[in-house]
Amino acid sequence: MIFTKPSMRTRVSFETGFTLLGGHAIYLGPDDIQMGKREETRDIARVLSRYNDIIMARVFAHQDILDLAKYATVPVINGLTDYNHPCQIMADALTIIEHVGRLEGTKVVYVGDGNNIVHSWLLLASVIPFHFVCACPKGFEPDEKTVQKAQKAGISKIEITDDPKEAVRGADVVYSDVWASMGQKEEAAYRRQVFKEFQVDQSLMNLAGPKAFFMHCLPAERGVEVTDEVIEAPNSIVFPQAENRLHAQNAIMLHVLGK
Ligand code: CP
Ligand code: NVA
Repeated sequence: MIFTKPSMRTRVSFETGFTLLGGHAIYLGPDDIQMGKREETRDIARVLSRYNDIIMARVFAHQDILDLAKYATVPVINGLTDYNHPCQIMADALTIIEHVGRLEGTKVVYVGDGNNIVHSWLLLASVIPFHFVCACPKGFEPDEKTVQKAQKAGISKIEITDDPKEAVRGADVVYSDVWASMGQKEEAAYRRQVFKEFQVDQSLMNLAGPKAFFMHCLPAERGVEVTDEVIEAPNSIVFPQAENRLHAQNAIMLHVLGK
């Protein structure tokens, strides 16, 4: 497990998950192998492949995970990049199936920054039919190519808007994430100004309706992108969502190992 960024859920769910499956996980933190500084990514990929059955990595540049996958001879699992976070969205889909009853046909409304979480939602919407709306400030939209890919797939209804109040009407799920992701923390103060109309508070949840669930990948900044009231409400499913990282990733690990 290579981590060039901090983590709680990803590290602990992968480490305990792999132990539950009968394996043993090794944590390599930002100072351990210093990917790209002490050693080239393509060398790391080939060496680690000789000791391990799976490589899981959390990195900044998405190209780094692509390079690991290109040169490794064992499966490489993406534990988050600046571009996407697929394991999170697998857990989120499982959580929606458990709580709403299905993912197909549901309306998932993401409110906030058009970031790595949004790109993974868009990629999921390219293969499973649901209604995905991203409500974000102008200038903070998700990657245009990824939006087009999801729209061209013609599987799901995709909307990008800057009107969170209109977006959440009829939502099955209202989803939030931090406004400043890892690597953007120096922009946090500026982003708090730009994003202030995009806080998920009780009045926004009221527009979504009484059946709407609240989800957040965590870690959350309470009082910033979401109020304490919303995250603590009975229809907030952030903790089953966090638990499902473990179950979804165990399935991913068994799948890549051909089990
Ligand atoms: N949601 C998530 O990936 O959490 P961590 O950053 O704690 O791993
Ligand atoms: N968008 C967030 C997700 C954290 C799990 C980040 O990249 O920091």
